Amino acid sequence: TIYDCSILEIDKHHHEKGNISVVENGKTVPFNVKRVYYLYDVPGGESRGGHAHKELQQFIVAASGSFDVTLDDGELKRTFTINRPYRGLLVVPGIWRELDNFSSGSVCLVLASSEYSADDYIRDYEEFKAYKKNNQ
Ligand code: TYD
Repeated sequence: TIYDCSILEIDKHHHEKGNISVVENGKTVPFNVKRVYYLYDVPGGESRGGHAHKELQQFIVAASGSFDVTLDDGELKRTFTINRPYRGLLVVPGIWRELDNFSSGSVCLVLASSEYSADDYIRDYEEFKAYKKNNQ
C-alpha cells in the first residue's frame, strides 16, 4: 500500500567545496539497482508518470530542483514534494504515480530494480483499479 512508500535519507558528505550524496545497493535502498534514468528539461506545467508498475521498485530523487510525486494505491492518495538531493522517495510495486510541478532546471533521478520492460507498465487507470482488486 501507500504506507510502504516512504522518504528515505541518503548519505550526505558535506564539504565547503560542495556536497556528495551516495546511494548504495541494499544499504540506502531495499533493492538492487539495475537501471538508472533521469528526467530533465520538463517544460513548465507538464506532468509525467500516469502509470503503475506490477513489479518494479523505484527510488526517486530530485538531483536538482523540485517536483511533486502523487502516489495512489487505489484506495489512498498522497503527494510528496521532492526537493532535496539527500532524500529520496521509495515507490513499491502496484502504485499509480503522477509527477508534476517541476521547477525549471529540475532533474528527476530514478533508480530502478529492473531493466526497462513495457510489459511491467499499467497505463490505464481503470485497468489499474481492476489489477488492484484482483491482486489483494
Ligand atoms: P515513461 O516511463 O512512460 O515516462 P514517465 O513515467 O516519466 O512519464 O517513459 C517514457 C518513454 O521512454 C516510454 O515510451 C518508454 C521510454 N523509456 C525507455 O525506453 N526506457 C526506460 O528505462 C524508461 C524509463 C523509459
